[in-house]
Amino acid sequence: MPLSSPTTSTYTVSDRNLALELVRVTEAAAIQSFSWIGRGKKNEADNAAVEGMRHAFDTVAISGTVVIGEGEMDEAPMLYIGEKVGSGGPKMDIAVDPLEGTNLTAKNLPNAITVVALAEEGKFLHAPDIYMDKIAIGPNYPEGIIDIDNSIETNLRNLAKAKKVDVSEITLSALDRDRHQEMIAKAREVGVRVKLLSDGDVAGIIATCIPDSNVDIFIGSGGAPEGVLAAAALRCFDGQMQGRLLFEDQSQIDRAQTMSEGDPQRKLFLEDMASGNVLFSATGVTTGDILKGVQWRGNYVWTNSLVTRSRSKTVRFVNARHNILAKPMDIK
Ligand code: FBP
Repeated sequence: MPLSSPTTSTYTVSDRNLALELVRVTEAAAIQSFSWIGRGKKNEADNAAVEGMRHAFDTVAISGTVVIGEGEMDEAPMLYIGEKVGSGGPKMDIAVDPLEGTNLTAKNLPNAITVVALAEEGKFLHAPDIYMDKIAIGPNYPEGIIDIDNSIETNLRNLAKAKKVDVSEITLSALDRDRHQEMIAKAREVGVRVKLLSDGDVAGIIATCIPDSNVDIFIGSGGAPEGVLAAAALRCFDGQMQGRLLFEDQSQIDRAQTMSEGDPQRKLFLEDMASGNVLFSATGVTTGDILKGVQWRGNYVWTNSLVTRSRSKTVRFVNARHNILAKPMDIK
């Protein structure tokens, strides 16, 4: 089908440039955490990524406010919720996970990534650091074939029907947790393959949009902040995702109410978690289903990132070779 030029262009050049600036931010975090891969020290790995990401933000032309970050101001020295970052420009909200998969990095396991999403002010759900139930699929399916309120069996059968395959050809991905054992047993009874992840549900959810990953659907609970980041990515990839915050007590409900408008226990659609014009970037730390990890040879470092915007929905994979002698970063 020939591509027609849009009659009313909604592109903005600054948006495009900003997306590429974001890649530098996730690249810096990945490069900094490289030294900690396989060293058994997840906090050190996380700190290195945070530092790399925080410094890289200094040159990004935005007036940014961290809304999903490393914690409250008194818990995190950098990239805490409310911290202002950027060198000045349009007001934007920032969601970060400088190292998504701290354990994966410490243990040198696949799928550790560095992640940033940007949106105009007020467009991200200000998710508290609690769990969120999540269900996600990739693009090319009719709206509504998954529903977080449906049984696991119904969701899997509806997906197989929409994909026009037998349910045995569907692969479900989930975090390998005791709390998911019942769901996993039911899924296996329906006949699907199950891929278990030791950590990293942002990469796990994005994998549903990457054909080579052979993952069709992600189901299960994980961090709520990670849910918002995954939703930002799926807006750009054209995937489908729903979530619901999981509260352990009334104080968590009260806290969520002070952070965002609306019933905190409602079903969350993609636009409830990340709306407006969203930009998303991730860089691989260890090689996984969606990205290659950092490679280091002498003075050269290779990174593999993905960057995308919800406005154009173009997903770019960016391979970069960095010369560390020419880089203004303190690489350990
Ligand atoms: P960290 O990188 O912060 O350790 O998070 C990894 C992660 O697996 C997330 O991807 C996921 O959302 C969350 O932890 C799941 O939490 P839990 O380990 O408590 O099940």
